[in-house]
Amino acid sequence: MLGILRRASIAVKMMGTGATSEYTAAETNRYIELAQRVTEPRFRFMNMGYATPGVDEDYSWLKDEDFESRYNIGLIQKVLDGTDLVGRRVLDIGCGRGGPASFIARYRDAERVVGLDLCQPGIEFCQTIYAGIENLSFVVGDALNLPFEADSFDVICNIDSSHAYPDLGKFYSEVHRVLRPGGRFCYADFSVRGLGWLRVKKVKEYDFRVLAVSDLTKGVSHALTLNKENLARLMEEIIAKDPANRALVESYERMVNVRLARSMGHWRSITRFVNILAELA
Ligand SMILES: C[S@@+](CC[C@H](N)C(=O)[O-])C[C@H]1O[C@@H](n2cnc3c(N)ncnc32)[C@H](O)[C@@H]1O
Repeated sequence: MLGILRRASIAVKMMGTGATSEYTAAETNRYIELAQRVTEPRFRFMNMGYATPGVDEDYSWLKDEDFESRYNIGLIQKVLDGTDLVGRRVLDIGCGRGGPASFIARYRDAERVVGLDLCQPGIEFCQTIYAGIENLSFVVGDALNLPFEADSFDVICNIDSSHAYPDLGKFYSEVHRVLRPGGRFCYADFSVRGLGWLRVKKVKEYDFRVLAVSDLTKGVSHALTLNKENLARLMEEIIAKDPANRALVESYERMVNVRLARSMGHWRSITRFVNILAELA
């Protein structure tokens, strides 16, 4: 009962303002601190991943250096949902530590890929570790005020980031502005259970034709489970290199595990991972 009341009150708040209930400055600060203090180049993805439950996926097509990130890459593949990127100009908003943008630049023959993030140290990290990839660049910027001309991109990706934005309406209007007519918006994020429809409704208000909406929760949850030990090992290695980072790294790992607990699909779970594929009219 309490859960229903909570979701109803969040829905009322979100309808008026376009804000998301999940916005927390603390989470954004954690990303900034992680980027400033953790320079481990193997830590490239901060999304929760995706793996189809009950399927023994074939990852043999991945290069050796990407195998460790196979579940994170699985989420990108799912969110792109077959979108043709060959020769396209792609923008990844909320690019974090650059893993998704680097994957798209190296594997999907895009003409150029730009990763954008609010977090300056994160962008500096990306500019250093992906320096050799010709069709890839990174820029500091705000999803709510994109530093690009109108119609600059053919495809815009946004993965596991928009829950941190204080105004989703402003974000969608910016995506609309910098995407060319007919361009694709490949979008996925956490949402409070039952409220994904509010995002779909809002996206449509900005002239997007919604091509597909899917609930990826089970696959995200499965990937989090499969990846739990790998993540713990990587985090321990990061701590071993600099023990002063223990509290910060453990708080990131805790956040990931809380998301896992919240998305297990049982009747009390309050978080869903929603994927919207849309095309600009
Ligand atoms: C969970 S990480 C996801 C990173 C990446 N998409 C991935 O899949 O690995 C969320 C990212 O969103 C970024 N972010 C938060 N608010 C933002 C904003 N207003 N504009 C741009 N990026 C933002 C954070 O700095 C963080 O790097």
